[in-house]
Amino acid sequence: MSKVSKKIYFDYAATTPVDPRVVKIILPYFTDKFGNTMSLHGFGQIAKQSLEESREKVAILIGAKSNEIIFTGSATESNNLALKGIAFANRRKGNHIIISKIEHPCIMESAKWLEAQGFEVTRLPVDKQGLVNPNDVKKAIKKKTILVSIIHASNEIGTIQPIKEIGKICKEKGVYFHTDAVQSFGKIPIDVNKMNIDLLSASSHKMYGPKGAACLFIREGTRIEPILHGGGQESGLRSSTVNIPGIVGFAEACKISKKEMKKESRRLTELRDKLIKGVLQKIRGVHLNGHPKKRLSNNANFWFEFIEGESIVIQLDLLGIAASTGSACSSAKLEPSHVLLAMGLRDQEAHGSLRLSLGRWTTEKEINYVLKVLPEIIGKLREISPYKKDYV
Ligand SMILES: Cc1ncc(COP(=O)(O)O)c(C=O)c1O
Repeated sequence: MSKVSKKIYFDYAATTPVDPRVVKIILPYFTDKFGNTMSLHGFGQIAKQSLEESREKVAILIGAKSNEIIFTGSATESNNLALKGIAFANRRKGNHIIISKIEHPCIMESAKWLEAQGFEVTRLPVDKQGLVNPNDVKKAIKKKTILVSIIHASNEIGTIQPIKEIGKICKEKGVYFHTDAVQSFGKIPIDVNKMNIDLLSASSHKMYGPKGAACLFIREGTRIEPILHGGGQESGLRSSTVNIPGIVGFAEACKISKKEMKKESRRLTELRDKLIKGVLQKIRGVHLNGHPKKRLSNNANFWFEFIEGESIVIQLDLLGIAASTGSACSSAKLEPSHVLLAMGLRDQEAHGSLRLSLGRWTTEKEINYVLKVLPEIIGKLREISPYKKDYV
């Protein structure tokens, strides 16, 4: 397998390089197999067949039926479709939606928009390690609740939620359950039936597929309305000419992940644990964000006392290491992460966060390099920190 680049990449939660095996599969779809799935001629039929084969490959990864997978352009779109589509199709039953306080911005903002349209939203708290309590879900469900949407694994802190228990509660109460599984999809086993999931969002570019392809699993029989109207592609739920190269790549990425998940997860867990242990041992005044065990194998997230996360990211970048403060979205806003604030961190503490996310090409040598340079960077930054001078 090829190296990502000469730079060291520790931001796999933001996006991943496309696996060269996926690139190889996609290329003919830009030239010879470029047809439109809606065309009746041979080119169209080839595209249509590739689309249906891809649907099957994606469905298999989560134990779904292939007709329960709708392809979209991004998980942002899938999440918008899940929330708005369920909300408007089920208005007669009720107008109440439950989410958590640590959702990705595309869920938070969709919920906020629905509030402005007259829906009522409950935002559930999390504990210090970022976990939603299933009992809180149970207590929050009322007669007019139509949807619960809880993120499967946090993009920032990697905490994995008790999705199976939450799904069971929703099933018993007759409420649709959606989960944003963008960060867990292809990394940990998911079975939509065993986990009582009615809708699930995933994105190709977080799992070594190309950007611009994603999906929404929608359980058969679910009442949902489209948010895009047009030619009626994807069973009328996502009108747009279908992005065949992207979808074929996404499906191939799913096939590879399914085959390699167990081994890769073990390898990454070892590397992650070495990284977390090393950082906590070598540096004073540093804390792990998120759950120590119930977390993604590729996520390490810390907060450093008396330092801004952004300055650590800049210093790491100067040494060839790409990292982030939290999600790609909150990094751009320079606002403290709503996830860390929901876990009880104060503004200044949340500003000191650093996320190192590992992936398919992360090596032990790279972990060792981070463990060598990070204590030096922290030492230097603390020397010039306006918050505290006599720390190191
Ligand atoms: C948990 C989570 N949900 C949704 C998204 C949005 O995915 P996309 O980039 O495909 O729109 C992301 C990406 O940052 C994510 O991490």
